[in-house]
Amino acid sequence: MSQETPQRNLALDLVRVTEAAALASSRWLGKGDKEHGDFAAVEAMRLSFSAIDIKGTVVIGEGEKDEAPMLYNGEKLGTGNGPEVDVAVDPVEGTRLLAFGRPNAIAVVALAPRGTMYNPGPAFYMKKMTVPSEAKYQVDIKAPVAENLRRVAKALGKSVDDMVVFVLDKPRHAGLIREIREAGARIQLHTDGDVAGALMAITPGGEVDMMIGTGGTPEGILAAVAIRIMGGEMQCMLDPQSDAERESVQQAGYSLERVLTVDDLVKSDDVFFAATGISGGTFLKGVEFTGKGAVTHSMVMRGKTGTFRLIEAQHSFSKLMRISAIEYGTKNERA
Ligand code: FBP
Repeated sequence: MSQETPQRNLALDLVRVTEAAALASSRWLGKGDKEHGDFAAVEAMRLSFSAIDIKGTVVIGEGEKDEAPMLYNGEKLGTGNGPEVDVAVDPVEGTRLLAFGRPNAIAVVALAPRGTMYNPGPAFYMKKMTVPSEAKYQVDIKAPVAENLRRVAKALGKSVDDMVVFVLDKPRHAGLIREIREAGARIQLHTDGDVAGALMAITPGGEVDMMIGTGGTPEGILAAVAIRIMGGEMQCMLDPQSDAERESVQQAGYSLERVLTVDDLVKSDDVFFAATGISGGTFLKGVEFTGKGAVTHSMVMRGKTGTFRLIEAQHSFSKLMRISAIEYGTKNERA
């Protein structure tokens, strides 16, 4: 298998992919229709990828879990020229956030050299704990929540009462939420979107100090790429949410006891990550339509150099529509 090193900053190509997905899907903001929003993003991503010089294979898609329209695992992406890469995609991370017009739906893509991303097999869910770089090596996902909160608070030089923990608002987290409250920490409950949650937790000076809880395995791998670049720590353990999932994960030889680190989830520093805001929020601003076009807000990172860029892009629909197969604007905006 080729381990050709990507020398270009592919993240700058990737941001065009996430921008396209955000532009296309944000038309569905608050329309209550999660399938069409996802479908628009998938189509836009697929088209945008076809112009990038990579020999890409989707290893982390999203379709199997909720039968969303997918960039399916094994799908080939790119022109077929250039470096062989694993591709992780989440055209709309937070399809319900988009459908209900809630904050923090984002379009996300990550690349790594072929064969370096973790293969989660039949595991859909994992427990995750993400902390900022100050608390790296201080936490242990197997230790009690209160103990981890104390250690992170100490590393951050604050008290547990000052801390804010990002938690997905799911029935499975009732016990976790109780433990965090009993320990004295504060909580941000979000219905969805734990990639944004993980990135919020590692962002210096951000409003969230830590993320804990069980979410999608694909989202964990996407977040791991960004954490590998930005710093911080994430520990994970596969956490099946049904008997059928537990059985297939165990039959496939995966351990439920193993702690997976960022280095297990992506084994190379030669990685690229891009995300664009769809619905807006405190993490990344969403797509703003201007009447003639739109403004997008993205973050773009490259592992080898550690470069992190925030990109605000102005899109003109009349010009874009002369060259693009993606229908971005309304009829008036395209005129
Ligand atoms: P989608 O993009 O598939 O809608 O996922 C949103 C999300 O909230 C993720 O951020 C999270 O990891 C996962 O769903 C949790 O899964 P579930 O909603 O099934 O508990």
